Amino acid sequence: MAGATVAGGAAQPDASSTRRCGIHLVKHPLVEHHVTRMRRESTRPSEFRGLVRRLATLMAYEATQDLPTQPYQVQTPICEADGVQIKGRIGIVPILRAGLGMVDPVLDLLPMAEVWHLGLYRDEATAQPVSYYDKLPAKRPVDVALILDPMLATGGSVTAALMTLRDWGVPQVKVLSLIAAQEGIDAVASQFPEVQIYVCQIDPELNAHKFIVPGLGDAGDRIFNTLEPHD
Ligand code: PRP
Repeated sequence: MAGATVAGGAAQPDASSTRRCGIHLVKHPLVEHHVTRMRRESTRPSEFRGLVRRLATLMAYEATQDLPTQPYQVQTPICEADGVQIKGRIGIVPILRAGLGMVDPVLDLLPMAEVWHLGLYRDEATAQPVSYYDKLPAKRPVDVALILDPMLATGGSVTAALMTLRDWGVPQVKVLSLIAAQEGIDAVASQFPEVQIYVCQIDPELNAHKFIVPGLGDAGDRIFNTLEPHD
């Protein structure tokens, strides 16, 4: 549905036009329902974690629809049957912390995948990504990497992750973010035009502190229940 509005009145880009330029807007009533619950300030961490899991599953289903397969024959209890299996090595790359909330549902769909964690946090003063964990091996990159992070704001963290995966030699990378700011998407796409970015909703702007507006606050704090208590 083109031109739909999200909380805060943001105009959603046309799904077919975004698909052409590598930005995939996952449009589905369930996605819109769960994103709305996730945005709600009164949603508690226990429900928030479940919403992240559900949305990650829906998004991963979309993002994996072009994975290559190869023929694979199996013996059923009756006879032999022709089938397929996913071809190549797949790497799930969560950006710590918040990306951890998306790992289990994606791993459920791709149980054969490898999980390679990247630790990045955004400096509060500069909004620049700071790397604090990276144990990628020097050789033998995966064939396809799925970067997981619920939020894409300025795009700095995803861009840093993409640079790391490029240095590792990964030929195909997909980014899965639940909510993204248009500005951040543009920044990532300008540096990595070949990368496919999957998002549930695109928000129109960042505020002075580089938070997504309307957004949902800090996904990591909401997943791990580390928000400062209100007075
Ligand atoms: C958040 C979010 C992304 C990043 C997005 O993480 O989960 O990783 O900020 O911002 P960017 O697009 O401007 O780089 P945060 O730095 O808050 O760390 P956390 O997940 O540990 O809370």
